[in-house]
Amino acid sequence: MIRKATLDDRQRITLVRNAVRENRLSPGNESKVSDTARWIYDNGTFWVWEEDGAVQGFAVADVRDGTVFGLFVHPDYEGRGIAQALLPLACEDLRAAGHRIARLTTDPGTRAARFYLRNGWIDTGAQEKGEIVFEKPLSPSQLAIL
Ligand SMILES: CC(C)(COP(=O)(O)OP(=O)(O)OC[C@H]1O[C@@H](n2cnc3c(N)ncnc32)[C@H](O)[C@@H]1OP(=O)(O)O)[C@@H](O)C(=O)NCCC(=O)NCCS
Repeated sequence: MIRKATLDDRQRITLVRNAVRENRLSPGNESKVSDTARWIYDNGTFWVWEEDGAVQGFAVADVRDGTVFGLFVHPDYEGRGIAQALLPLACEDLRAAGHRIARLTTDPGTRAARFYLRNGWIDTGAQEKGEIVFEKPLSPSQLAIL
């Protein structure tokens, strides 16, 4: 089941975020990520996949800067289409907020980088820290075509 998260989901969302093996949270980023997450809990939407009585994945956009802030699936639930189902909802939030392009960053050589390439995202090059910046145009029919 896909639904919008509530504040009650926050602990489990954090657990899923910390359970992943790639794109792990780097220690220097913790407070910035925490601030952004808090803003989104107050003003935006975490889309969550619930299965077996718990949140097993989430996708979330930051409508302030047009980025996909997070896409994370618990390792035990990977490879079943959960990310493919959740990501369009975060992209739709960006489109509804007026963005024409979605952006995100991910570590090179990861399952996530391969996932984005296979799902139509464009590799626009690496940032200073080596993370790849991916972009995807957001058409009005985003939900229908993804
Ligand atoms: C990257 C990540 C989000 C992908 O999540 P996922 O739910 O495993 O992704 P999906 O299942 O939607 O897609 C992965 C594969 O499963 C396939 N799949 C889709 N539905 C399926 C199903 N019902 N049964 C089996 N496989 C399926 C997809 O076709 C896709 O195949 P491909 O890799 O050959 O293209 C997840 O691996 C993850 O959280 N990684 C760690 C954190 C991370 O890097 N996040 C991104 C940060 S930017």
